[in-house]
Amino acid sequence: MTQTINKAKLYAQILNPASRANPYPLYAQLRETPVSRQEDGTYVVSTYKEISALLHDPRISSDERKSTHGAGSLVASAKLAPEGQESHPPFIFLDPPEHDRLRRLVMHQFTPERIEGMRPQVVQLVNRLLEEQSDRAQLDIVDHLAYPLPVTVICHLLGVPREDEPRFHAWATILARGLDPAQSMTEEEIQQAGQAVAQLGEYMDGLIAERREHPRDDLLSGLAVGSDPAGQMSERDLVVTMMLLLIAGHETTVNLITNGMLTLLRYPEHLARLREQPEYVIDVIEELLRFEPPVHFRTRTTLTDIDIAGVTIPKGATVALMLASGSRDPARFDHPDIFDPIRPDNEHFGFGGGIHFCVGAPLARVEAQEALRIMARRLKNPRLVTDPPPYRENASLRGPKHLLVAFDALEP
Ligand code: HEM
Repeated sequence: MTQTINKAKLYAQILNPASRANPYPLYAQLRETPVSRQEDGTYVVSTYKEISALLHDPRISSDERKSTHGAGSLVASAKLAPEGQESHPPFIFLDPPEHDRLRRLVMHQFTPERIEGMRPQVVQLVNRLLEEQSDRAQLDIVDHLAYPLPVTVICHLLGVPREDEPRFHAWATILARGLDPAQSMTEEEIQQAGQAVAQLGEYMDGLIAERREHPRDDLLSGLAVGSDPAGQMSERDLVVTMMLLLIAGHETTVNLITNGMLTLLRYPEHLARLREQPEYVIDVIEELLRFEPPVHFRTRTTLTDIDIAGVTIPKGATVALMLASGSRDPARFDHPDIFDPIRPDNEHFGFGGGIHFCVGAPLARVEAQEALRIMARRLKNPRLVTDPPPYRENASLRGPKHLLVAFDALEP
């Protein structure tokens, strides 16, 4: 009986910031019961097979309006709707057919040529960010590199004019805070996030109007001009989708780069190999997405009763799919707690799975590959200053708040 009660508290323990530095032993305990009902009523799914089944199950919804419980974060609950306007969720919070229609339009703009075409800019940017800090003996990987990189890249991709980038950086920072659990935010921060949504919405309205008049070769023009045979986006969908791309691609990429540097410094043999063999970075990033993923879990709502692993999840329940636990499931991966970039079979949940599989995966890979490859090459004798580093509160988008790395010099 005691054990049952403890098991039902595991999810609360995972959400507790005290578990942030190492939640993996808790995941191992969770996996002893693939699907478990937790004290707060959430059904937690922790094993690879069951997570995979539910990611592909149309009886489970991403639309939190269909949940009988509240949404988990401000961004989710605000649904990116400026104050006074009706909730208008971005497609990550929608189900088919609306989800598929909007997603298809965006996918048509994320062409391999456009994404690969960003690589030289990413290289230039990473080098510049490092060079700006070359006088220091110590670098904060989060503040000096991982944080400014994705927002600048998304600005270039969308086609935000350079002079407006500082405003975008400010909005992105405020909105990223809005991804934390709502209860961890102060009244003032909630208000700030609401204002940022309104201002960003207004800014995007203006930029969209400009691009409709004078289209360029950027993603925003592609969507705004609307020559896609798959249809057209409404003005509101376009604004909300632009915000989704900014938010979904920001904190996640920051965490992949930061977790990446942290892991390489904890396993210096892999850092040494990466210095020798720059192409090793491709395997390193894939293993990081399994071993230290930026997204630890996603929640869903059941549209009907679902029988799975001997449990009936009732209709309307909140289900937490513990992606990071599934990616460490020993029933699926050999020696899952070992960081092994050359493991032959690595179908991780780092970018999710099923119809909501990450749209930005190719872009995130380009950014993280170049950031780690260049840091490995240019930072001479890098060392962790504190291990474990301080973590941000968010349990779902998990990553260090700061990552201080000392180094001897910046190689040319
Ligand atoms: C390392 C960086 C990233 C990670 C780990 C990541 C992870 C994920 C995961 C796990 C999902 C699935 C969500 C779900 O099933 O509910 C997702 C969806 C999504 N991601 Fe990413 N992401 C990253 C970067 C990006 C970037 C750079 C962009 C855009 C520029 C982006 C845009 C999206 C969008 C639009 C969705 C929703 C897809 C849908 O609902 O169909 N992501 N991402």
